[in-house]
Amino acid sequence: MTPTPPRDDAPIAPVTNPATESCTLVIFGGMGDLTHRKLVPALYNLMVDGLLPESFAVVGTGRRRVEQEEFKASLREGIEAHSRRTLKDERWARLESRLSYCAVGSDGFADLATHLDEVDARHGTQGRRLYYLATPPSAYGGIIDGLGGSGLNRASSPDGWARIVLEKPIGHDLASARALNLAVNRVFHERDVFRIDHYLGKETVQNLLVFRFANAIFEPLWNQKYVDHVQITVSESIGVGSRGAYFEEAGMARDMLQNHMFQLLCLIAMEPPVSLAPDAIRDEKVKVLQSLRPIAPEEVDDSTVRGQYAEGTIDGEAVAGYADEPGVAHDSMTETYVAARLQIDNWRWAGVPFYLRAGKRMNRRLTEVAMQFREVPHRLFRSDGLTPNTLVLRIQPDEGISLTFDGKVPGAQSRIRPVDMDFLYGTSFDGATPEAYERLLLDAMLGDSTLFIRRDEVEGSWAWVDGLHEGWGRQHGGTSLPEYTAGTWGPAEAHVMLARDGRTWRRSK
Ligand code: BG6
Repeated sequence: MTPTPPRDDAPIAPVTNPATESCTLVIFGGMGDLTHRKLVPALYNLMVDGLLPESFAVVGTGRRRVEQEEFKASLREGIEAHSRRTLKDERWARLESRLSYCAVGSDGFADLATHLDEVDARHGTQGRRLYYLATPPSAYGGIIDGLGGSGLNRASSPDGWARIVLEKPIGHDLASARALNLAVNRVFHERDVFRIDHYLGKETVQNLLVFRFANAIFEPLWNQKYVDHVQITVSESIGVGSRGAYFEEAGMARDMLQNHMFQLLCLIAMEPPVSLAPDAIRDEKVKVLQSLRPIAPEEVDDSTVRGQYAEGTIDGEAVAGYADEPGVAHDSMTETYVAARLQIDNWRWAGVPFYLRAGKRMNRRLTEVAMQFREVPHRLFRSDGLTPNTLVLRIQPDEGISLTFDGKVPGAQSRIRPVDMDFLYGTSFDGATPEAYERLLLDAMLGDSTLFIRRDEVEGSWAWVDGLHEGWGRQHGGTSLPEYTAGTWGPAEAHVMLARDGRTWRRSK
């Protein structure tokens, strides 16, 4: 007899013996922003949930000499400011006892190697090391070479292992991404390389595969026969803040399109994988990237729009335009908004446009995938009000899924109006949702690379984005980009692009 599965509302037993092996997390950039805002709050919550191994240690490292107490105080502040749970002293004490800092000096990684051996002896972490590169990408090459040169890339005991986690961006174009991938693969086997795209750690993104492949009713409709088009929106109300200098080099296509948005696209468009093995899933994602029609330089005018935010109002507050942000050139040509029409040339999606848009300082924070279905083949109802069915997967905020369909308005007249079926995470599931970094850190410790980006995925998405940049570089006559007022839904040109196709963006006003 099949055992009854636990009810969703049943109390969850505390996890006391996770499969996570004892290990040391070595954070390069241990005093940096990412460690402070994301990594240490994630570690704290993993510990509270009983998901860290019994034998565990965290070593912060970097060029700066930092006193042990300063390091610990900085991590504590990170938890206090950014953890989804309030810090409790006795819990902090458990984590604090596993923390230490060791600077890397000009003489290489010898001190770090000695320190890690001591940590192994003190905490029983058995030579298992997860190196996390939470530094600016310009430091990656030196760290990777340093790890290789000092032998820290190799397991230091029979039960040991050495893995490396790289944060995005992986390169700034295909050539630099290839060079970085080559450098890291010279030192670490690809199975030990964990490239982070934090969108894959979001619960709602993980749910895309469950939604598609654990339910029977959607997949038969998931193709060119029934789908008119797909819109993927990543809109943020924040501006570039203090990251102006970084953003000037990146722009929206590199910052969001090449990674987060292409990952969403892959999960929506991929074929069912043969299993849930990491490579089975990643193979299918790569096939989507291989099927993307490259964008020819002469097509960029018709198929893409870029824009830059001008001053405006967000939540009742006046905000500066991009060109007036700190670190930004007054005549900057960097896009803070990108929209593109993509075509996937395969049997499932032939002729179905995928419209992607991402912008800073937009009307509000919203990430969603909207699949609009074709109209009915024959109009039985003589109503002007027929609205095509739309399935909306809300990634954030208001996490959930809704399906819009037409219904009869009660009354003697025959009036039709769209109505929604709505699923909300907040009301359907108990418990607070873990942060993306909790899941990703845990998976890296477990050695499960499903939610990490394989080398060919990175390179496949850069190949398309390189074409985009080449086309933009050849565009004539531009000394400025189309502007959009902060707090709106992007430049008018993006609305014109869809209007040319006889379509409109969702939430365009
Ligand atoms: C980062 C980008 O990768 O993702 C940022 O560099 C962006 O510019 C951020 O703001 C968005 O992440 P989230 O989780 O807030 O949607």
